[in-house]
Amino acid sequence: MSCVVLSVPGSEASAERLRSRLDAEAGQAFVRHFPDGEIYVRIDSPVSGRDVVLVCGLDRPADKILPLLFLAATAKDLGARRVGLVAPYLSFMRQDSRFHPGEGITSTYFAGLVSGAVDWLVTVDPHLHRWASLDAIYKIPTETVHAAPAIATWVGEHVPSPVLIGPDAESEQWVAAVAGRIDAPYMVLEKTRRGDRDVSVTAPDLDRCNGHTPVLVDDIISTGRTMIETLVHLRDRGTREPICVAVHAVFSDRAHDELLAAGAARVVTCNTIEHPSNRICVADAVAVGVRARLS
Ligand code: R5P
Repeated sequence: MSCVVLSVPGSEASAERLRSRLDAEAGQAFVRHFPDGEIYVRIDSPVSGRDVVLVCGLDRPADKILPLLFLAATAKDLGARRVGLVAPYLSFMRQDSRFHPGEGITSTYFAGLVSGAVDWLVTVDPHLHRWASLDAIYKIPTETVHAAPAIATWVGEHVPSPVLIGPDAESEQWVAAVAGRIDAPYMVLEKTRRGDRDVSVTAPDLDRCNGHTPVLVDDIISTGRTMIETLVHLRDRGTREPICVAVHAVFSDRAHDELLAAGAARVVTCNTIEHPSNRICVADAVAVGVRARLS
């Protein structure tokens, strides 16, 4: 396939996983800061008339967005045929409403920025809650890759007699899909979030965990409070030691250690964000999504 895969700094591992699966050329992009903090970008690979695939994991996005936008603009300026973005984790999707007066709905604004900069987008399980699909806010063709098949394979191979638990209503899309693939029971709890770290979860139905290993599944672990609140309920009920599984290992501060301290036997994530907890590879599925966009 005659395309060039370029990594935005920090996404080299993810870019190489994709490049090898596409059998594409590894492009060379250089980004540095001038002494005054402004950004210099350069693309050292020939891109004229070719498809360029920019890979940029968008966790901790503030320092990545300008390099991404400038590299996309440079590739187009150098004559690239199309420039696509592979963002295994797509940021800002949780700000999908004006929850308090005066707030910005940043998922929309970010979608506008990306839609103006690249020709297509591939991402893994974006946080779709109040937006029904990426098409609601992105003006370019998008491809949503699902991690559920890979998660189901991992759970099926590693967890005896699992019961899947979604900590909130949004997580039903993941727990239902995983449970369905391995023919396991699942339940969905109710969450109330009052602040970044102020979360409560109601869990009336945990007797159904008897005889099973609880597997908590969510799209994102950030502060960890959603899963920790759920772990507390499971500990109170004396269930088997639970396992926490997330698509995106955002992990702010000490969230990973706090989950283990709260009783998680293991914390396992997909490799959309590089983290020592990555055990589930979604690169094959990402490559399928990218091939669909390139064809
Ligand atoms: C939001 O509803 C997401 O699906 C996750 O439940 C949430 O982002 C997890 O955040 P935290 O780890 O900070 O509780």
